[in-house]
Amino acid sequence: MTPQNNIKPAGLMAVPAHHKGFPSGHGSEPARIRTDSPAIRLQHRIDLANQALALLCLLPLLALSLRYANRGLGPNPVETLTSQTGAWGLRLLWITLAISPLRQLTGWHWLIRLRRVLALFGFLYASLHLLVYLVFDQEFSPAGIFDDLRWRPYILAGFAAFLCLAPLAITSTDAMIKRLGGRNWRNLHRLTYAAAGLAALHFLLLVKRDISEPAIYVVLLAVLFMARLRKQPLRARLALLRPTPPEAHKP
Ligand code: HEM
Repeated sequence: MTPQNNIKPAGLMAVPAHHKGFPSGHGSEPARIRTDSPAIRLQHRIDLANQALALLCLLPLLALSLRYANRGLGPNPVETLTSQTGAWGLRLLWITLAISPLRQLTGWHWLIRLRRVLALFGFLYASLHLLVYLVFDQEFSPAGIFDDLRWRPYILAGFAAFLCLAPLAITSTDAMIKRLGGRNWRNLHRLTYAAAGLAALHFLLLVKRDISEPAIYVVLLAVLFMARLRKQPLRARLALLRPTPPEAHKP
């Protein structure tokens, strides 16, 4: 190929013919679409918003790392690390759950395309939270962890919440969505509410005196859950409860 062949007219770019939503070219020729089309401009803006959001989500981790490096985590550094990572995991999980009702309320459909970054950072903080517990609290002692799971219900609830979050993070890629199929993926992702419920329970059970903060999370979760129920018409909800008739499986 000569260098000239690589030069594309300004405002045009090659897109694989099979690319969903774009017109395909003839034969093996890739379709050419305008890079200044509203759809491409929106995609650029969403990419930028996702990058900005990722940087924003990294800030608490950066602040914690700096405090750790400067020995500024207070008299009980492990407690600070545990509570900060847990709190950010919880906040981001709630923000992720709020995206869908917010989109409904505002009509800003692009909001949904920011959800994955928020959810993945929520999972990152929850994983760091677990790591701090395993490394600093338990020093990887299976007996200690087992004892905690047995005698501290809040640890059990935390682990259960994490076990619900893990498959959601693993199946968050486009390839996994394709592999599972939209319907199965959506069904699996209903686990988000179970994860959030268990995380809220974890928080409620671990506080000793003032339950106002976990109570706020519980109320917010209830509001988000109601908004979700309202979104689905009653008929659709009842249909989900009914078993699928055998003929529906036939090709
Ligand atoms: C993976 C299993 C988990 C373990 C072993 C675990 C363990 C802990 C521990 C030991 C604490 C400190 C308790 C104390 O101060 O007495 C804590 C606090 C907390 N955890 Fe977890 N946790 C887990 C999962 C989660 C998850 C999935 C979330 C949320 C997404 C979460 C959110 C929180 C919050 C918000 C706090 C309280 C933070 C504060 O002090 O303000 N935890 N967790």
